[in-house]
Amino acid sequence: MIGKASVRGAALLAVAAVVLAGCGDSGSDNSSGGQSGALEGRGPIKFATGKDTSGNMQKLVDEWNTKHADQKVTITELPESADDQRDAMVRNAQAKSKEFTILNLDVVWTAEFAANQWVVQLPQDQFDLDNFLEPAVNTAKYRDKLYAVPVYSDGGLLYYRKDLLTAAGITAAPKTWDEMQQDCAKVKALPGNAGLGCYAGQFDKYEGLTCNFSEAVQSAGGSVLDDSGKPTVNTQEAKDGLSFLADGLKSGEIPQAAVTYEEEDGRRAFQDGQLIFHRNWPYVYAKASATDGSSKVNGKFDISPLPGKSGPGVSTLGGHNFAISAFAENKATALDFIKFFTSQESEKSNLLATSQAPTRANLYDDPALVKQFPYLATLKESILNAVPRPQAVKYNEVTAAIQEAAYSAMNGKSSVDDALKDLQSKLEDLTAQ
Ligand code: GLC
Repeated sequence: MIGKASVRGAALLAVAAVVLAGCGDSGSDNSSGGQSGALEGRGPIKFATGKDTSGNMQKLVDEWNTKHADQKVTITELPESADDQRDAMVRNAQAKSKEFTILNLDVVWTAEFAANQWVVQLPQDQFDLDNFLEPAVNTAKYRDKLYAVPVYSDGGLLYYRKDLLTAAGITAAPKTWDEMQQDCAKVKALPGNAGLGCYAGQFDKYEGLTCNFSEAVQSAGGSVLDDSGKPTVNTQEAKDGLSFLADGLKSGEIPQAAVTYEEEDGRRAFQDGQLIFHRNWPYVYAKASATDGSSKVNGKFDISPLPGKSGPGVSTLGGHNFAISAFAENKATALDFIKFFTSQESEKSNLLATSQAPTRANLYDDPALVKQFPYLATLKESILNAVPRPQAVKYNEVTAAIQEAAYSAMNGKSSVDDALKDLQSKLEDLTAQ
């Protein structure tokens, strides 16, 4: 199942790129940055990114600044939500502002930023891309050219309270949704556990919901787009996937509060001990393992692949890539800083501090790292088999349609069948453009 998903993911990516990539593309070859010498200028730069949740980004920037007094990097921290980060970066680009030099782009924004020439093409031969995970590198390319460098990857994981499962006599993490529901019932039947939430992911109406919806559909054996890029959400599999989420909210297995959850909200609920199962990205491992009193579940939880309808589920491919704004000065400094930040040493330091998934493949096999993060093999497998979201220039419209459908069905504003019928026709219009 996992292998099939991987093949389908790669095909989907390629086809979606062809079907959707043309929209809004000026057609010109934004290659100025690719020619040697074109990335010019050295001096101070600003680096726009989502929240530096561990402080390690600042630590690496400090390390760089100590060695580059006249090329200092300053972090501009953007809001927590992926959508708000994109808005800030799009505004910066539309104003042709010099403010942001390096952009920490979500993997789904490459096509839009490259096609609009908001970021410059990068010299591929200056990066040892063969040492990076291939799915991550693919997210940094547009029309086969490199516009960003993968900094960390992301795959959805199931965090679960091993202590509670053990107390209920359960010896292994659930592989299916049914097993997960049965495990919840057993745990909640124990004294003091009745108020626990069974499961939550990211169900607020934003990019995280697109990831969770896609995972639910894929984990029921379906897809959002098929191998030829055609929308496939009006199917039994997609209905099964969305019903898993909508029914969970109706029955209370998914706590009502979860419809407002983005990554950090769910992470806090899990580490405060309110949830038995939680879908989130790898960064939660370090936060929930904190021994400073901030996590109530330190040493009490474990990680497993996402469950699915009749076997293991299939994750959505997430992650972040660094790109250089077309309107910025000091692009040579920016290029060097990206090389520094994506080096073996920096990625290792990032993994140790944040538990974010490295994009350099060999770190997953480093014995010292495997000792500290025993789930690294599971994580690598989850990323290699994860399904990418469509590489569309108008991805914003695609994701808005998905969020609308998923949110309205999950919140009882429309039936699962109606929501998916409507989504199918919206996606058909968008992919036909
Ligand atoms: C994480 C992922 C990113 C995804 C986002 C959704 O940041 O890396 O790809 O779009 O979460 O909230």
